[in-house]
Amino acid sequence: MAACSFRRSIASQLSKVLDLPPENLIKSISAVPVSKKRQVADFQLSIASVTEDSSRNCLAQDPQLQAQKLAERLKCDAVVSEISAGPGTVNFTINRELLAKAVLQQVLKDGSEYGVKSELFSTVPRQKAVIEFSSPNIAKKFHIGHLRSTIVGNFIANLKVALGHEVTRINYLGDWGMQFGLLGVGFQRFGNKEKLKSSPLQHLFEVYVQINKAAEDENTKELAKDFFRKLEEHDEQTLSLWKQFRDLSIEEYIRIYKRLGVRFDEYSGESFYQEKSQEVLKMLEDKGLLQKTTKGTGIVDLSEKKDLSSFSTVMRSDGTSLYITRDLAAAIDRMNKHSWDTMIYVTDKSQSNHFQQLFQILKLMGYDWAERCQHVSFGLVQGMKTRRGEVIFLEDVLNEVRSRMLQNMASAKTTKEIEDPMETAEKVGLAALIIQDFRGLLSSDYQFSWDRALQSRGDTGVFLQYTHARLHSLEQMHGNKQLTDVNVACLQEPDAISVLQHLLRYDEVLYRSSQDLQPKHIVSYLLTLRLQKNMSSFSQVEEAVGKKTLAHCSGGSSSSAAFRSL
Ligand code: ARG
Repeated sequence: MAACSFRRSIASQLSKVLDLPPENLIKSISAVPVSKKRQVADFQLSIASVTEDSSRNCLAQDPQLQAQKLAERLKCDAVVSEISAGPGTVNFTINRELLAKAVLQQVLKDGSEYGVKSELFSTVPRQKAVIEFSSPNIAKKFHIGHLRSTIVGNFIANLKVALGHEVTRINYLGDWGMQFGLLGVGFQRFGNKEKLKSSPLQHLFEVYVQINKAAEDENTKELAKDFFRKLEEHDEQTLSLWKQFRDLSIEEYIRIYKRLGVRFDEYSGESFYQEKSQEVLKMLEDKGLLQKTTKGTGIVDLSEKKDLSSFSTVMRSDGTSLYITRDLAAAIDRMNKHSWDTMIYVTDKSQSNHFQQLFQILKLMGYDWAERCQHVSFGLVQGMKTRRGEVIFLEDVLNEVRSRMLQNMASAKTTKEIEDPMETAEKVGLAALIIQDFRGLLSSDYQFSWDRALQSRGDTGVFLQYTHARLHSLEQMHGNKQLTDVNVACLQEPDAISVLQHLLRYDEVLYRSSQDLQPKHIVSYLLTLRLQKNMSSFSQVEEAVGKKTLAHCSGGSSSSAAFRSL
């Protein structure tokens, strides 16, 4: 019997008693979270979920009583060894030897796909997803919001891939607009070709800061306008300089994203949609959705009563496009190109209104697929500073995390044998950064603290990596050789049962994260696994077999979908 069939087996018995199809019951049966204080049953059925499901009047009473009545009508069998009633739940305990055998067999059989192959996902159709994330602006700050978008978007993309969906990762750069007029003039004045080649992001940012200071004078403003106009007219020389800015910036981004384990299928950007946004304006006009204001700008009425109580500006008075117009063109283009089932934009919550309006206009234009667009937003991170001060470059954050971690490692005794301390410090430090970010709800703001994130104990990425490395070390010491012949009688102590029970819940946790796209379910699952009491017995075994610590975690051989998705 496979572990994933436990729910099915319970559902099949319940289905006879409740006269409901077993498929409807499977999602109402959940593995019970492990408790440190007491032993718990393995699965529970919430009475509320079946009363919602059916209008059966036998269940329309006090939940405790209902649970008791239902429990009395069920029988133990070869799979379920105990049935009890709790407040509003019926609890099921699986035959102890069967539990151990089935969970281990399932883990061995599914390997890195453990949890992903669960029946919980069997009804979820495979989809094509476009995920747009990171999306920094060339020559401007890569602020902490861009970092958050990068790791959250990457999480969503990895999770979707692990669950069998087809994912296209898009980086939509801020690579157009008046800022390029200024940047062009600035480069002519302060630019240096060598510096542009060797560190484009830093150099362009510096030039941009310098020219912004100079932009007070009318002459500079005029020159910038001129440069941008030439760019829009596709003047060859102007365009070629802009292209260099863009290409060299992307090259450097690719290198830095690699340190984070992030890659993109497409580097798109606002520049792609200059012409297409003119087509969008034409379409809006043809559909009677574009209204001209007295100032000459173009707006779309978004109010229900069509009284302009809410509207979106889509055209400047000179006829050029705006941020939202380019987004309209990009969404339509992506649909034509990828025929996606779902499209996700990941940015901070300050852009919620923008995306709301974007989806609304698409709907007004008659694109039903606008309903399948989603904005995943997140809160603000306060107080992240690097040695260079406020965050301007992604690379500074990565260097800071690495050097702080290196320092911590140097002062800890356990990490002396590491072969490549830089590499290890980087991997562990990044895990710390990501776990700190993923612990809470994405929409929450939080106060960033290097010290809290990098603590070696407690709910941190550092300790999670440390635990992972220890488990790896055990695996290496003992190999997989005896696992075909497990003596399950040895896995009956409460600590072992707790780990097995925790493993039973993994698919549900993945399912939750896949539904609400919140990484916190997976993160707290992993942190709980780390807290399992029997980690102390792991560490005893580890002591016995010799110490291998953090060195392993840079091997990248993490075996679960959860680790891959983080
Ligand atoms: N470049 C924008 C910024 O830094 C984010 C782009 C978000 N994506 C979009 N399709 N509008 O604020």
